[in-house]
This record gives sequence, structure tokens and C-alpha cells, in this order.
Amino acid sequence: MSVKAKIGPSILNADLSNLAAESQKLLDNGADYLHLDVMDGTFVPNLTFGHPMVKSLRNKIKTAFFETHMMVQKPQQWIEPMADAGVNLYTFHIEPVEDVTKVSRLVQEAGMKVGLAIKPGTKVQDLEKYVSIADVVLVMTVEPGFGGQSFMEEMMPKVEWLRKNYPGLDIEVDGGVGPKTIECCAKAGANMIVSGTAVVGAADQAQVIREMRDVVQKYTK
Ligand code: DX5
Ligand code: ZN
Repeated sequence: MSVKAKIGPSILNADLSNLAAESQKLLDNGADYLHLDVMDGTFVPNLTFGHPMVKSLRNKIKTAFFETHMMVQKPQQWIEPMADAGVNLYTFHIEPVEDVTKVSRLVQEAGMKVGLAIKPGTKVQDLEKYVSIADVVLVMTVEPGFGGQSFMEEMMPKVEWLRKNYPGLDIEVDGGVGPKTIECCAKAGANMIVSGTAVVGAADQAQVIREMRDVVQKYTK
């Protein structure tokens, strides 16, 4: 495997009124990128923030790699504003999208990388036909919508299958991932690790980030 281990904290459970400072702290503590959870209250039963907030954050944090995890019914609607807000990786769910190839192309044309996400109930084979156009695939390890849920180990066969068939692919996991569950993810083949509460709530964020990266590196060598 020649993929790189990267840790991307999710700021969902951080103090959102203090987003820039919380984000900067995570970066100073070694985060490789920021995972920004965008929810529309339709695709998932929760509401977070949109492109105005991401743009404001970008004004304060100039260089970090931003991923937006679009838990929205119409990802095509937010491509331009998110590109304008300085997003680097636009990850959207394939479930509500009729023409995934077309939306992926629009994301690329807007200058962003493409991430394709699947919910726990979606088969990894449904993703297979789009892997060639994706820069990253995201296997959800909780039902999207809320931070702080329990990790679903039964999603690991999806990660294993992807890694076996696509050795060079960036495979991301998201939901309930922390020091206790990282080994399982890394062993299955995930190399991009989203972690919310386990990192944000840690007394020593740098230690938790380092620890998780070390475990992933053990398997990506
Ligand atoms: C869930 C979000 C996740 C979540 C991660 O809908 O996509 O990014 O906030 O948080 P933890 O690690 O607490 O599950
Ligand atoms: Zn997420």
C-alpha cells in the first residue's frame, strides 16, 4: 500500500461559536486536514452549517486542507459556493444522487477533489462503478447525522473489499473512530481517518492524533 495516513478531525462536536480557534488548535496539534460536516435537515435529521460559515473559516485559516462532508439531498446545489469558499475536497453521498458521474465532473470542474460517501445501509458494490472518478471514498461507520455515536465494526468488510481491489485508493472512515477503534479501521485498510469527539474532547489532542496516525502508518507501509 502506498497511500498516506491522514487524520482529519471533525469539528461537529467542537464549540461552533469558536470555530476558527477550535480548528486552528486541531491543526496546531497535528491534524492533517479538517473534516467539515454539512447537514441539510433532509438527507439527515440534523442541521449544521453551510458555505457562508466555511468561507468565514477559510478567511481565518488560509492554507489547511478542507473537506466538506455533504450530508445533503442535493449536493449539486452547493458545488459552486463551496468551491468559492475554498473547499479542497467535496465529499457527497451517492444515495440521493441520480447521476453521480455528472455531479463528480462538476465538482472537478469547480476545482475541487471528489469524495464519494456511502451510508451503513449502502452496499460497497454500489460505489464500485464510480471509484475511477473518485479521489476519496468514504465508508460511514455510523448512521450520518450526529457525532458521538458508536462505531459499527460490521462496516469493515466494505473497507477490506475496497483496499483489496484498489490498493492505491484513499479510503476514509467516519463515525465513532478513536484510539479504541483505530486498529480495526487501519487493519481493514482505511488511511484517511475522521475523528470527532475522540479528538475534540481529548485532554491532549496532539497525543490522540499522533497515536492514531502511528497505528494507520503501521498498516500503510
Ligand atoms: C456524522 C459525521 C461525523 C461525526 C464524527 O454524521 O459525519 O463526521 O461528526 O464524529 P464522531 O467521531 O464523534 O463519531
Ligand atoms: Zn462526517
